[in-house]
This record gives sequence, C-alpha cells and structure tokens, in this order.
Amino acid sequence: MADPKKLFIKTYGCQMNVYDSERMAETLGGEGYVQTDRAEDADMILLNTCHIREKAAEKVYSELGRFKPLKTAKPDLKIGVAGCVAQAEGAEIMRRQPMVDLVVGPQAYHRLPDLTAKAGTGAKALDTDFPEEDKFDHLMARPKAKRGPTAFLTVQEGCDKFCAFCVVPYTRGAEVSRPAARVLTEARDLVERGVREITLLGQNVNAYHGHAKGLAGLIWDLAEIDGLERIRFTTSHPNDMDDALIAAHGDCAKLMPYLHLPVQSGSDRILKAMNRKHSAESYLRLIERIRAARPDILLSGDFIVGFPGETDQDFADTMALVEAVQYGQAYSFKYSARPGTPAAEKEDVPAEIADARLQELQALLTRQQRAIQDAKVGTEAQVLFEKPGRLPGQMVGKSEHLHAVHVEAPNAARGDLVRVRIEESAANSLRGTLIHAA
Ligand code: SAH
Ligand code: SF4
Ligand code: F3S
Repeated sequence: MADPKKLFIKTYGCQMNVYDSERMAETLGGEGYVQTDRAEDADMILLNTCHIREKAAEKVYSELGRFKPLKTAKPDLKIGVAGCVAQAEGAEIMRRQPMVDLVVGPQAYHRLPDLTAKAGTGAKALDTDFPEEDKFDHLMARPKAKRGPTAFLTVQEGCDKFCAFCVVPYTRGAEVSRPAARVLTEARDLVERGVREITLLGQNVNAYHGHAKGLAGLIWDLAEIDGLERIRFTTSHPNDMDDALIAAHGDCAKLMPYLHLPVQSGSDRILKAMNRKHSAESYLRLIERIRAARPDILLSGDFIVGFPGETDQDFADTMALVEAVQYGQAYSFKYSARPGTPAAEKEDVPAEIADARLQELQALLTRQQRAIQDAKVGTEAQVLFEKPGRLPGQMVGKSEHLHAVHVEAPNAARGDLVRVRIEESAANSLRGTLIHAA
C-alpha cells in the first residue's frame, strides 16, 4: 500500500476553529490523510483562519508566502484556506495567492472530501456556501482513538447580534443550534475515550436553543453522564444570561465557576454605537446576580478600546466598570476597522490615543488578574491533570477557576482529578501540593 498522504493544519482565531480543525482532520482521515506537525512533510496544508482583526487576516497571507518554496519543491502539494478569511474573501484569496488550490468556508467543511478530490485533479476548488444541510451531521464519525482529558464541543454557531464592529455574523452566518440529542451522543463518545472536562462552544453559546430548556437544560443533561466531571461554556452574551443558567452556576456541581462575559466598553454612549443592546449598569446588575448564585465565580471579559468616537470620558467609564467588576481573566484589543461592518464607515480614533488607552487598560486588568490569582494561595483547589510539567515528577492541570497549577505528583497520570493546596503564585500559574485523602 502507498504511504498515507500527510495533512498539516495550522489553526488561528477562536476555540471554534480549534474544534473545526479537529473535525476537518477526522474527515480527511477518512480520505486517507494522516496528520503531521511538519509543514515540510505535508501533501496538503490547510490554514484555518481568523478574520476578527486586520492583523489576524494579514497573517494568513504572510504564512502563505512562507509556503511558496514548499510548493515549488513539491508541485503536487495542495494548499487550502479554511475558516473566516476564506468566508470573507473567497476567490480573492486565489487572486492574491495563485498557489492556493482550495478555499472553504466554515459551514462547508463536510464537503471537504469532494473539494480535495477536485483540487487533486489540478482544478481550483471553492465553497463558501451556507448550505441547508448541517455540517455537523455530515462530518465523518469521530474515530474511536483515545484522547486527552479535556475537549471542546461546538453546540451553537453563528451570530445574529451584529455588533457594529464585528465580522462574525458575516463569516459564520446566522445563529444555529445543534440538537441536544446529538450533542449528548458526541459528549458520551468523548467521555468513553477519556475526556473528563468538556467546554461547550458557540459564538453566542448561551443563546443555545437546541434543548427545550436552553443551555442550562443541556448542561443539566450533560451533568448526568458518568465520568464527565467538569463542564464549561464559552462565549456568552450578557443579554442571553437567563435565570436558569445563572441558577445552574449555583446548583450544578459539575459546572465550573468561571464565566467569560464580554462587555466591550463601560460607556453607554459607546455601547449604543456598538449595537450591544445593554448598558454598563445592566451588565453590573447581571454580574451581581451571577455572584449571588456563585460567590467564588471567576469572571472574564473582552474589551475594545478606540472604537470610533470614543472620548477620554468614555474610556474613563470603561476603566470604572473594570474597577467595579474585578476580572480574573481578560482579553483587550485595539479597535480594528473590518470591511463590511457598520463601524468601518466611521472615523478612527488616532492610533496613539488608542495605543495609550490599551496600555492603561491592560495594566489595570493585569493587576486584577494577578491579585485574584495570588488570593488563591493558602486555599484548596481541585485540579484536572492535563500533562507532565517541566520538572521531573511534576504534573500541570487547571483548577476549577481555570488557573494553571503545577503539582509535585510522581505517581499521577493525565486525567487524574486531585485535591491540591495552593502554595505559591507565579506570573502565569500557581504551584500546589497534593492533599492526600485521610
Ligand atoms: N461572540 C463573542 C466573541 C467575538 S470575537 C462575543 O460576543 O463576545 C472575540 C472578541 O474580539 C470580541 O469580544 C471583541 O472584544 C473582539 N473584537 C471583535 N471584533 C473586533 C474588532 N473589529 N476590533 C477589535 N476587536 C474586536
Ligand atoms: Fe461579534 Fe457581537 Fe456576535 Fe460577539 S455578539 S460574535 S462580538 S456580533
Ligand atoms: Fe476569528 Fe472567525 Fe473565530 S473571525 S474569532 S475564527 S469566528
């Protein structure tokens, strides 16, 4: 038999792309491809791309440039672009980079076998449809291979919110939820293969409506699965945090006390211009209700500075909101005008001002994250071991609050769930010691 063809996939952007890359690799596995982590060995290179900010999109073209010598050396090498740049730019990618053989948008991955066959004949293959059929139903069944203790599981895709700055509603399409029964089947399969923690994914995961009782209903059903120890979900929109989901944070022991709840700005004027459909005050009241249900919950957020029209006062309002919330984790970005979005029509804040604001905000967020992490010293945590640490006999895993924890545990294995006393807080992780059951 001929050697199997080799597939190299590079993934950019959000966790949904990580999930999609896995599923694409599985689908192409059915076509005889095995994955390699060396682009030089590949018969097919796939870039799974992100269009969220200008820099993310530009990276794709510079990466494609780097593959040119590989294609020259091996003319049979196929190069494909998937993900949100593929959706946003389509055939334009092949015009800019003629060596690209295949362009496939995020809703068409189940058509990859046909597309690669077409590319194999030397033709250009392009599919950026939003087909009627559900890609998840048509992707290859997952192989039964053993896997690590944590997994992503996409339950919802697309977005109907149309924040004025954002490309996601255009690149991923309208909100669609996968039926709960299918999600539960996939989750049970993951657990049989060694997974103990599942993170449910969706661009608007808490708008999930594939279960009669929404995302909370799905979480409660997942919590019934023996062997599944931890459930997380991301990303949520403040307006979709319903009472049942807030209550689940207090009542469901398997639902971890961590919530990523982007707010983007603390200024009502800017929130309105962003089309966020909530105010700073309503967000703060929501946080109060969530903390009443689960007092130790760690909150995470996303922020954009320098949105068109943002004044010093607007930025001061954002800083004040951050002070009021106290985030344990955060992602902050300088506004990047995206072609086709309403905000792109407006005049940008001067770059030096936006840069200075970003620095100031990041300094505050870093102080908060560090203070919340440092406060774990002396407390007990539950840690799920994911991999060996750098030192011999050490394991690394995540706490309930998603802090990385290094633990001396010479007899432990990946997937062990242990109790740990936190001893020390370093720049990006904690160190703890095992608490032995009496
Ligand atoms: N669906 C999620 C995530 C969207 S993308 C949500 O609603 O929060 C992740 C983050 O990227 C956003 O929360 C936002 O902070 C940032 N982002 C999106 N578009 C951007 C743009 N044009 N410029 C800068 N940051 C942007
Ligand atoms: Fe983008 Fe807003 Fe939708 Fe999030 S909610 S994906 S920021 S449009
Ligand atoms: Fe990027 Fe698309 Fe995700 S634009 S953030 S890869 S949904």
